[in-house]
Amino acid sequence: MQRTIVQEKPAVYFSSVYGSTRVYAEALATALGRRIVDITDGVPAGEVWNEEAVPLIFVGPVYGVKLLGSEYAAQAARKVDTTSAGQDVAFVTVGLTDPEKAAAKDSSAKFFGEEKDRIRRFYVPGRLHYPDLRLVHRTAIKGMLLYYSTKPGTSAFEKELVASGGVGFDKVDTEKIRPVVWWAQAR
Ligand SMILES: Cc1cc2nc3c(=O)[nH]c(=O)nc-3n(C[C@H](O)[C@H](O)[C@H](O)COP(=O)(O)O)c2cc1C
Repeated sequence: MQRTIVQEKPAVYFSSVYGSTRVYAEALATALGRRIVDITDGVPAGEVWNEEAVPLIFVGPVYGVKLLGSEYAAQAARKVDTTSAGQDVAFVTVGLTDPEKAAAKDSSAKFFGEEKDRIRRFYVPGRLHYPDLRLVHRTAIKGMLLYYSTKPGTSAFEKELVASGGVGFDKVDTEKIRPVVWWAQAR
């Protein structure tokens, strides 16, 4: 009997707690003709990260001292880019830090350890709807807003965040993923 091996089309891997990162993953998948794979609770069995699967794309939100999914992107980079800093893996960080400032500081670099030079990083703005937040998250966000409201040199983006008061903030804009699409298409 002859067996046919069906190769899955490439994926966009994402982690998300409240759904905003999923929106970006879906937009990327649509633009690039990929599937989306939710890795919030781990990478499903059967996902293969090798040279044939590149460029690999990960999308994940920042939660304080964590960048969800960053450990998997580092793992993938170790697998597909063993010899040089070829940057066959991209990580799109979703957050409420002003994305221009985050990009200028490259604030996600620290989450990738030794693999940081193998990963191409992008930054896009996220979303928070305060009434939906778990209590522990709401408390943490209050601290973040307090910090932004008192620190000198607050950006327009940060002022908007503070002004969002008790409702929340929605900066999700799928147009912002264009540079990621161009990067992937050029590989
Ligand atoms: C408890 C908490 C901590 C956060 N910490 C950060 C942070 O340190 N930096 C940042 O840019 N955004 C931070 N954010 C914002 C999230 O990254 C943003 O809301 C994102 O869109 C959430 O993604 P999700 O909807 O896919 O879960 C935080 C949000 C919460 C609720």
